[in-house]
Amino acid sequence: MPMYELRRDLEGVDWAAVTVDLARDAFDNGRTPEEFRRSFANSAFVSIAWADDHVVGTARLLADGVCNAYLVDVWTVSPYRRRGIASAMVDDLVARVPGHHVALFTEHAERLYGRLGFREERVGMSRISGKWLNRS
Ligand SMILES: CC(C)(COP(=O)(O)OP(=O)(O)OC[C@H]1O[C@@H](n2cnc3c(N)ncnc32)[C@H](O)[C@@H]1OP(=O)(O)O)[C@@H](O)C(=O)NCCC(=O)NCCS
Repeated sequence: MPMYELRRDLEGVDWAAVTVDLARDAFDNGRTPEEFRRSFANSAFVSIAWADDHVVGTARLLADGVCNAYLVDVWTVSPYRRRGIASAMVDDLVARVPGHHVALFTEHAERLYGRLGFREERVGMSRISGKWLNRS
């Protein structure tokens, strides 16, 4: 029996608390709690892991409903890692976009994604439009 619950909505999320936990885990990329909320609200699909009445994991998918999807913000708060939470969130999101090519970038979690069926593609490229988060 998992010690967590996956939810597909953002009801009740304490975004300030989530961003504090992200910073503690050194996985904060500079978004304010409101910007973080907007990132999730504007995503096609979200998977949020809850345990002990707080958010212990996040993942979201940008998807066009036809063929392309991007997996973003996959994170499990440190004390809850290695229990299958990230795997469950990723599986939950991928299952909701049958027929899509699902892509992601990762610096540290190749083994995890490999186990979940992702295969490395030869070149990933990216650029920032203007300045990151529009900060001057
Ligand atoms: C990468 C990250 C999301 C993984 O989260 P997680 O919830 O621990 O992931 P899982 O539990 O599904 O899998 C992690 C490992 O635990 C193992 N595991 C899963 N369930 C387990 C269980 N019940 N008991 C023991 N180990 C278990 C998995 O096999 C996996 O092993 P691996 O290290 O060989 O890949 C998490 O470490 C994290 O948030 N890191 C910082 C942010 C980050 O790098 N995100 C990825 C960006 S793309």
